[in-house]
Amino acid sequence: MNAKPSPKLPRPILCALALAAMAAASVSICCAQTHPAETQGVGKYTGPGSCASTSCHGSISPRNDTDVLQNEYSTWIVKDKHSKSYQSLTGNVGERMAEILGLGKAENAPRCLACHALNVPDALRSRTFDLTEGVSCESCHGPAAGWLGPHTERDWPHQKSVALGMYDARDLVKRTEKCLSCHLGTQENYVNHEMIAAGHPALFFELDSFSAVMPRHWKETGEPGEAANNDPLYDLREMAIGQAVQLRDSLAQLERRTREKNWPEYAEIQCYACHHSLTPPEQSWRQATGYPGRQAGNPPWNESQYVVFRDVVHQFDPQDAEQLAASLTQVYKAMSQLSPDREAVASAAANSAHLADALVARITLISYEPESAMQLLQKILADADEISAQGEQSAAQAAMVIQSLFVALDRDRKLQNSADMRNAITALFQQLDNPSVYEPARFAHQMQQINAATR
Ligand code: HEC
Ligand code: HEC
Ligand code: HEC
Ligand code: HEC
Repeated sequence: MNAKPSPKLPRPILCALALAAMAAASVSICCAQTHPAETQGVGKYTGPGSCASTSCHGSISPRNDTDVLQNEYSTWIVKDKHSKSYQSLTGNVGERMAEILGLGKAENAPRCLACHALNVPDALRSRTFDLTEGVSCESCHGPAAGWLGPHTERDWPHQKSVALGMYDARDLVKRTEKCLSCHLGTQENYVNHEMIAAGHPALFFELDSFSAVMPRHWKETGEPGEAANNDPLYDLREMAIGQAVQLRDSLAQLERRTREKNWPEYAEIQCYACHHSLTPPEQSWRQATGYPGRQAGNPPWNESQYVVFRDVVHQFDPQDAEQLAASLTQVYKAMSQLSPDREAVASAAANSAHLADALVARITLISYEPESAMQLLQKILADADEISAQGEQSAAQAAMVIQSLFVALDRDRKLQNSADMRNAITALFQQLDNPSVYEPARFAHQMQQINAATR
């Protein structure tokens, strides 16, 4: 999997390997000289081996003397699940799933490879590389042939790479869209209930938490070009933008799905409305809550993309919050039926997606202050009953968002009750360990414990 010098490899790699011995002493990155011909091949893929040398992105430990860490490849290959995503196809669960779905071998099925590998047509490859490398550098950073050589020059600007085919993942909106292309799905690449019933995990996402778990191989910067960690509330910004894009794109997906043969698509409905364990009536929280907004027994729409984000909108964009809320109420009503009307869902979803799109643009412009961040955290925590009543998937979003806000605030100003809050948040996540016995009252209680710890 590692790059070995061979005539097929692009010149910068060979040159970089030669420089490797000097790397520790030198601040220059890879090879500075570029031949104009190397900017040809814009839009073509080279495979992760092109980034792997120790003087490029394969350094063992992070470097402080350069703009980027240079150990990105090492982080990816050792710690990042993306580098193992092809192996998930060849495991027992993956193979059985593909068999149930009638796709043959999972590792040969374009439907699986779309999200689990860099499966691009031969015509878009500038050299040979292996699908077994999974989700790799160019899956997120875009085809590298055009910028691979020049981007190693000292002071080479990011925008020039973007012009040569690099995906602009620094832009938080675009970054989220890229993650969601696999973690939510698109028209072509999707995970539906049929796949889930065959064994695929249900997809969910939250930009800030997923970036932390990934783990990040980049320095957190407030804005492109600025010093690392200059924005202590960066996690809040990332969370808010991620949530806005996620709401918009999931509504667009709902609208698309109204046009599909298989309808209603169960993956749009709260999983544990159907999959929970049954209890005696006196222990049933569902009966205690009384099915607000829908007929008893009708499965509810999975509103998890909105129930927590709603508080973000109220905090930072109150004048538009009402309109969005009204529109999403229509989606909920139309979807929480035994046999949802396609037209009604499509039009409510399209309307809400439109509002969410406008919100995405506005939310990128917000500047956050520690005071308003703390207010937001307390607002979400005070919403414990309503959020937790929307089921396990909403609770999971709440736990991730609360954690993001805590991380942001704690970094900004070491919080007084930092240790208590951390423990309370850990206990909140533990409530999600066994989702089919999820209990809203317990989850809400734990949110209130965290709220108490903020005071
Ligand atoms: C090309 C598709 C693709 C893109 C783009 C993508 N992912 Fe993934 N991601 C996957 C797949 C497939 C897996 C599952 C890996 C495996 O098989 O275990 C995964 C797994 C993960 C996991 C591990 C989840 C777990 O259960 O431990 C995290 C975290 C993650 N991705 C974060 C991100 C983030 C953040 C982004 C955007 C910056 C992103 N991903 C972009 C396909 C993608
Ligand atoms: C829309 C993109 C997408 C498609 C299409 C897709 N997957 Fe996945 N797959 C993912 C993501 C994202 C994850 C990680 C989910 C998470 O942990 O949040 C994943 C996880 C998995 C896992 C669990 C891995 C683990 O470590 O637990 C298996 C197995 C799997 N996929 C197999 C398949 C198979 C087989 C197919 C084809 C039938 C397929 N996938 C199609 C995106 C996709
Ligand atoms: C799952 C998506 C994903 C994969 C896979 C991935 N990256 Fe990244 N990478 C990101 C995101 C998101 C950022 C932060 C935004 C940015 O700086 O472009 C980033 C940042 C970087 C940076 C810092 C860029 C800068 O200007 O500060 C480097 C260098 C980098 N990645 C190299 C790599 C290499 C090399 C690989 C493969 C070994 C790789 N990445 C694989 C998502 C990914
Ligand atoms: C409207 C009801 C409904 C909803 C909502 C629903 N499912 Fe299902 N699910 C079913 C039915 C029916 C089956 C088939 C069960 C059988 O054959 O015994 C099934 C099967 C499954 C299976 C395979 C069963 C097993 O024992 O392995 C899994 C896993 C699953 N669903 C997960 C999910 C997830 C995750 C979600 C949410 C994203 C979800 N379901 C949403 C009704 C639903």
